[in-house]
Amino acid sequence: MHITFKIRRGAGKSQRYQCYKVDVRPGWTVLDALHEIKWNQDGTLTFRRSCRHGICGSCAMQINGLNALACETQIKDLKRKPIVVDPLPGFKVIKDLAVDMDPFFELLERVKPYLINDALPPAKERIQSPEDFAKISSAINCILCSACTSSCPSYWADKSYLGPAALLKAYRYIFDTRDQGSEERINALDNQHGLWRCHTIINCVDACPKDLAPTEAISRLKNRIVSEKY
Ligand code: FES
Repeated sequence: MHITFKIRRGAGKSQRYQCYKVDVRPGWTVLDALHEIKWNQDGTLTFRRSCRHGICGSCAMQINGLNALACETQIKDLKRKPIVVDPLPGFKVIKDLAVDMDPFFELLERVKPYLINDALPPAKERIQSPEDFAKISSAINCILCSACTSSCPSYWADKSYLGPAALLKAYRYIFDTRDQGSEERINALDNQHGLWRCHTIINCVDACPKDLAPTEAISRLKNRIVSEKY
């Protein structure tokens, strides 16, 4: 089956759409079609990918107007043709579908995305009960693809806003019973560019390819900050 892909090319003022006709085979994802274009039609097409299994998060892009992972998006499930592929919104385009991810990872660093615990580690491991792990288990599944932050109108309006991915990561550590860094993390959250910028628009929930719920995590963080600080 021949399907046309309308792909945003270039960067800045030179951005334009370019169409490619691809002979799509059963079971192909959008990433398979991009590979076909790059390897057999136009080697200048630029996009990121690595694992091809929805794990590395590098192939996030906008497909028919929605943020998604190219390697997880089955072409047969896309109703609208031609299939329109754009770079993730909200980030500076470097070339074609590759965007500058540095600002995204700088936001992440502000919430200290690692375990903070100054106590001497036990001989084997820091134990956590299954009940306590359940509180953070889904947040751990975030693959940092940035589809959520890129879909957030609050982030589009304020590029210093932490955004849903960083806030979900903050939740993952603040609610981790082994962590002792919640006070410093909460200070990073409780300011004009922090979690109060979330207006529960819920684009992030729709965009997340792992079915996570950043908005719910942000609500829990808001409750915790109000009850602990105010
Ligand atoms: S290539 Fe790794 S998530 Fe798609």
